[in-house]
Amino acid sequence: MKNNKFVNKIICADTLKFLAKIESDSIDVVLTDPPYFLDKLDNNWDCEEVANQDNQQVIKSLPAGMKFDREQGKKFYAWYLKISEEIFRVLKPGGFFFSFSSPRLYHRMASAIDDAGFEIRDAFMWLYTQNQAKAMGVDHFINKMNIDEKAKGKIREKLNGWKTPQIKSCFEPIAMAQKPTEQTYLNNMMKYEVGLFDTTVRIGDNMYPANVFTIDSINELVDRAFLLPKPTKKEKGEYNDHKTVKPLAVCEYLINLSAFAKDAVVLDPFVGSGTTAVAAKKLGKNYIGIDANEKYVKISEQRLKELDEKSDLFGKAVISEKMKKGSLQPQLQIA
Ligand SMILES: C[S@@+](CC[C@H](N)C(=O)[O-])C[C@H]1O[C@@H](n2cnc3c(N)ncnc32)[C@H](O)[C@@H]1O
Repeated sequence: MKNNKFVNKIICADTLKFLAKIESDSIDVVLTDPPYFLDKLDNNWDCEEVANQDNQQVIKSLPAGMKFDREQGKKFYAWYLKISEEIFRVLKPGGFFFSFSSPRLYHRMASAIDDAGFEIRDAFMWLYTQNQAKAMGVDHFINKMNIDEKAKGKIREKLNGWKTPQIKSCFEPIAMAQKPTEQTYLNNMMKYEVGLFDTTVRIGDNMYPANVFTIDSINELVDRAFLLPKPTKKEKGEYNDHKTVKPLAVCEYLINLSAFAKDAVVLDPFVGSGTTAVAAKKLGKNYIGIDANEKYVKISEQRLKELDEKSDLFGKAVISEKMKKGSLQPQLQIA
């Protein structure tokens, strides 16, 4: 097997450096949730810095992810272009690249993926109802104005409810890109066992796969079309203090749609606490996970170990028809 030193391992490394070791045209699916390049959540992601909750009342020291800076998008693009070029090289022809992002910097990420040679085929929307509103009031600044209290009061009254332009964020966009196929889709599928989508996968109430999904029950209509299973309390692991753990069902949905080969390898170059790897393993696929932080590598390894020991911890994946039918690993009949 290609990459046999790395397959079914979580590697602690800087992704850009490590990707050079992965063989060309060897990976079926890349599914990742990279640093969003909002402040502190960048390619120098530091566990301590990100977890630090101190000084949050002081305007100068905002919690991770809140600071606005035009340079963030440019830096993200430049870095993600290099990452995407490597991902392009390691994917098989027709291989898929799913990349999570934030509404604010999605455009930079998608452009980097596009410019690396991928075909941007679609975007998924992960819809949710709960999130912390990030807008800040301006009272702090009004208080500091060099005017009398009565004038300050008037301004406060006039601007009551008006805050900085950060609306409550309730979706995450996910780029869906594909390395161009060799010749036709069918030829590509016959040669590389990747390139088509499994339309027998189901979402919501036995519905055809959609590019919108949610794990929050919203209302009958939305749930019927877009609901995926809620994360179980235990799937994340009680010891897992990663700030941005993705739900297993979301990763399973995307892997089920795109990974055909029995021995398919799913690569997550920013694996964090290991959700993509756990999902791949649960579905009988291979994985390679990379993360720069040793602490997260250990958490990933622990989650993977627990999957071996107690499979019931991770709940049932009620996602695809083929799973229900128990035919998880289709084999292509090549005449
Ligand atoms: C958004 S998190 C991924 C979370 C993951 N989806 C989960 O469910 O746990 C991004 C990860 O990228 C890692 N990271 C940041 N810069 C990196 C780099 N240059 N090389 C490798 N990993 C990096 C961080 O340590 C972080 O865990």
